[in-house]
Amino acid sequence: MKKILTILGTRPEAIKLAPVILALQAQPQHFISQVCATAQHRQMLDQALAPFGIQPDFDLDIMLPGQTLAQVTSRAVEGLDRILAQEKPDAILVQGDTTTALCGALVGYYHRVKVGHVEAGLRTGNKFAPFPEEGNRCLISPITDFHFAPTPQARVALLRESVPDEQIFVTGNTVIDALLWMRAKVEQMPPPMPAQVADIPDDHIIVLVTGHRRESFGEGFQNICHAIRQVADAFDKVSFVYPVHLNPNVREPVGRILAGHPNIHLIEPMGYEPFVWLMNRATIVLTDSGGVQEEAPSLGKPVLVMRETTERPEGIEAGNAILVGVDQAKIVAELTKLIQSPEERARMANIRNPYGDGTSAQKIIEILLARL
Ligand code: UD1
Ligand code: UDP
Repeated sequence: MKKILTILGTRPEAIKLAPVILALQAQPQHFISQVCATAQHRQMLDQALAPFGIQPDFDLDIMLPGQTLAQVTSRAVEGLDRILAQEKPDAILVQGDTTTALCGALVGYYHRVKVGHVEAGLRTGNKFAPFPEEGNRCLISPITDFHFAPTPQARVALLRESVPDEQIFVTGNTVIDALLWMRAKVEQMPPPMPAQVADIPDDHIIVLVTGHRRESFGEGFQNICHAIRQVADAFDKVSFVYPVHLNPNVREPVGRILAGHPNIHLIEPMGYEPFVWLMNRATIVLTDSGGVQEEAPSLGKPVLVMRETTERPEGIEAGNAILVGVDQAKIVAELTKLIQSPEERARMANIRNPYGDGTSAQKIIEILLARL
């Protein structure tokens, strides 16, 4: 019997680790599964865990409004240190590139506990893009024992950094497990939508927008918002739906530049269930999110990625996604092209999603079973 402590703190970690936690829970003869939430995110974490029925065993409740990176780090490290000393797990699991993931791996290493890194090996090669995620994931790798790489390219990136081949496992991305499960659920029973979304006429093109990257705060976000407004002014049968991230650095420019436009619907962050339904209904996705970039191609949605560089080049190379940066003219040009060209949208939609087939969590569990 092995005790696995899964550590998570933000919305995407909850969604991407939920399939792994559920798979661990399904094998009580082999695993004692515990979950520790740093709660780096509060409302958005609770909202993301809810549809999976996961309740953390430990909740550090560290979030502060407008928190700094150092605050998150120090509060998470201190809390996780206490939990690991008390629980003495055989292994910990962290996911991705958040500050919670870095702190989890670090504290696991300090306690000489095996560290499993889900979504290992993503790289842009620029430590400030995305910031601080690129730094976080580069720091996690050397102290990790099991590297669960989502794609062959991620494996190659790890090998380049001298990670031993036998510690790398290409599993696909667990986000596809979560997405396929949720899509099946919402297809059976569509969830209630906020009134603004429910009222969008059927013949409208819906552009679903999300954005929250730190490196785009300030001018970048203003450019993004001006681009959205410019396109919304140009087309009366295009509706933008933007569930606005709770980070105050996002909410200020978004509210200031986009509020009040009849075809731009600013709504609160959505639960995963309505968000997946909406992504499925949307025509185009405009995002800087890592997870949304991975999910949208599985639903056959063309994605415009509002970043200068991405650690998820597979979608760009396959042709599901286009990098548009945070340049107003470029966003307007590419979005306009997609709005006006059903052929181009269909071409992008018909390319196979490169990120996984929905069996990643099972693969991870089998590796843990064999290797721990
Ligand atoms: C964090 C991660 C980022 C990830 C993103 C997913 C770090 C450094 N950043 O960014 O990698 O892509 O989550 O969304 O790990 N807030 C709330 N309620 C919430 C969540 C956030 O009020 O439920 C507000 C708070 O004021 C908080 C601020 O947003 O201080 C920033 O949260 P933080 O987790 O530090 O950064 P994010 O930008 O959310
Ligand atoms: N998501 C959600 N509700 C929203 C916006 C996004 O449930 O209103 C989901 C989305 O489907 C994806 C994840 O949140 O699985 C992405 O989180 P986010 O963009 O915050 O972080 P990133 O992936 O960029 O780290």
